[in-house]
Amino acid sequence: MTKIKAAITGIGGYVPDYVLTNDELSTMVDTTDEWIMQRIGIKERRILKEPGKATSDLGARAVKDLLTRTGTSPDEIEVLITATVTPDMLFPTASNLIAHKTRLKNAWTFDLAAACSGFLFGLETAANFIESGKYKKVIVVGSDKMSSIVDYTDRTTCPLFGDAAACVLVEPSTDENGVIDQMLHVDGSGGPHLHMKAGGSLRPATQETVENKEHFVFQEGQTVFKFAVANMADISVEMMKKHDISPDDLAWLVPHQANMRIIEAVARRMGISRDQVMINIQRYGNTTAATIPLCLWEWEDKLKKGDKIILSAFGGGFTWGAIYLKWAYDGAHKA
Ligand code: UT7
Repeated sequence: MTKIKAAITGIGGYVPDYVLTNDELSTMVDTTDEWIMQRIGIKERRILKEPGKATSDLGARAVKDLLTRTGTSPDEIEVLITATVTPDMLFPTASNLIAHKTRLKNAWTFDLAAACSGFLFGLETAANFIESGKYKKVIVVGSDKMSSIVDYTDRTTCPLFGDAAACVLVEPSTDENGVIDQMLHVDGSGGPHLHMKAGGSLRPATQETVENKEHFVFQEGQTVFKFAVANMADISVEMMKKHDISPDDLAWLVPHQANMRIIEAVARRMGISRDQVMINIQRYGNTTAATIPLCLWEWEDKLKKGDKIILSAFGGGFTWGAIYLKWAYDGAHKA
């Protein structure tokens, strides 16, 4: 019996309207457009300003976009997985709320937390559900309202992040295209370099944790930078070697968008040119779990059936990895 393959068969996305520019950030902290462009490569990022709206609202809008673009009824979805580090609350899950807001009456859902690698972990999970033969339609969402955990008085972290959501539909493949391989890793010793100190069961919220700004992203930028370059490059090159993919064979690298210098270093190590790399960090910044599907969403028209694509990420935890897939449909011909 031939093994069932899992393929991405549709994409949805959503970015909030509010554009936070480097110039506006320069009025909030001691920074400049020049520094941010040189050191990070971000020009602007989107911020969810609507009162009472959260990660599940971003995710729900992305899922509605996906259902519309693929002509899928909400009733057909069997599982929804949301990768996020900014759920609306500790429970219920963001996935639970997204399913409610998009009327996925027949889906069971759960959140998955792997920071910036969350989408890759979610896609691998969804692919296994499909490959098992038990499920036919699974949605993986990457959604993060990073502005809810960013300290806008800290110039070392506030230029980096933005809010967004994007998602993919995963279904059984009808041919040899689909998810081919994954290499996913975690290393808990990296935790102290990039984390949120309070708000969990170790340090529940108190007046002290709020005053000490422990509910915001804490990052040792240089350390994370070095690990990100080394691990994303190593894993992506390893994936190319394992599957005998030459730089010319690769249609696209879809990297996590944390820093333009990281993306360029990874592409250099892989021996590919910049026009083989999806880059939208200039406009959206680091949207954590949303970066990779957000790129696919923007590039969908250019994707062709059979395209060899490597998705690659590194993030808090540490978590990192790569997924190799062959694109399953001609994006330009999708309704
Ligand atoms: O997505 C999860 C994974 N995260 C990442 O991959 C992020 C990895 N890290 C990075 O991208 C970079 O380390 C940062 C963008 C966070 C920082 O860039 P850097 O080149 O590593 O800068 P740095 O931290 O070494 O700081 C250099 C200087 C410092 O000043 P001094 O000590 O040399 O006087 C900082 O205080 O730049 C200063 N600085 C700034 N100056 C203007 C830090 N932030 C800013 C700022 N504007 N926004």
